[in-house]
Amino acid sequence: MLEKWGLEKFHSAYPLIAQQFVDDYDLKEGLALDIGAGHGAMGIELARITDMDIIFVDIDSDMLAKSQKHFEELPLTNKASYINCDAIDLPFKDNIADFVVSRGSFWFWDDKPKGLNEIYRVLKPGGVAYVGVGLGRYLPKTARDRIQRELSEHIKRAGYYRPDVDVFTEIVKVQNFLITR
Ligand SMILES: C[S@@+](CC[C@H](N)C(=O)[O-])C[C@H]1O[C@@H](n2cnc3c(N)ncnc32)[C@H](O)[C@@H]1O
Repeated sequence: MLEKWGLEKFHSAYPLIAQQFVDDYDLKEGLALDIGAGHGAMGIELARITDMDIIFVDIDSDMLAKSQKHFEELPLTNKASYINCDAIDLPFKDNIADFVVSRGSFWFWDDKPKGLNEIYRVLKPGGVAYVGVGLGRYLPKTARDRIQRELSEHIKRAGYYRPDVDVFTEIVKVQNFLITR
């Protein structure tokens, strides 16, 4: 399925990242937001192994439509909704989300501290957000090395700016976020 979505490079990573979230944060039910959802793989993998409702968010309506199509192709019973908006201006009330994931999107946001504050605002007290570009801890080293090599080549070819984790840390350190790798 992930191959069909054009995510061949990552296909082994998404289910493992989702499993890591479930294990680390004991996710079972409640509301999860997938911000910058793209093809929807992160939210979909969370839905496969939890009873969480998922809101897919993306600034690009075409990507959002893809996430909806991919979700609806699967026999999932979780509630899902799709919101076309900017991560730095989320149209949600305060304290609604039990979990927020934003993978591979942060570096595209115009105002990164504002986006992080928005995520903090919509998280319930005690909720958890995962924002970054990581592949998680569960992926075997051989797969990790291969994906990272392919990703670096892709980023170079596309000319994307992707600073390292120290720059990320600098951006968020003025706020009350815990940084983990
Ligand atoms: C590289 S894709 C990552 C997709 C997916 N999260 C994943 O891990 O495969 C980045 C996504 O972030 C979205 N995006 C970029 N800037 C955004 C913004 N300011 N607000 C919401 N989504 C944004 C893009 O449209 C794209 O779908």
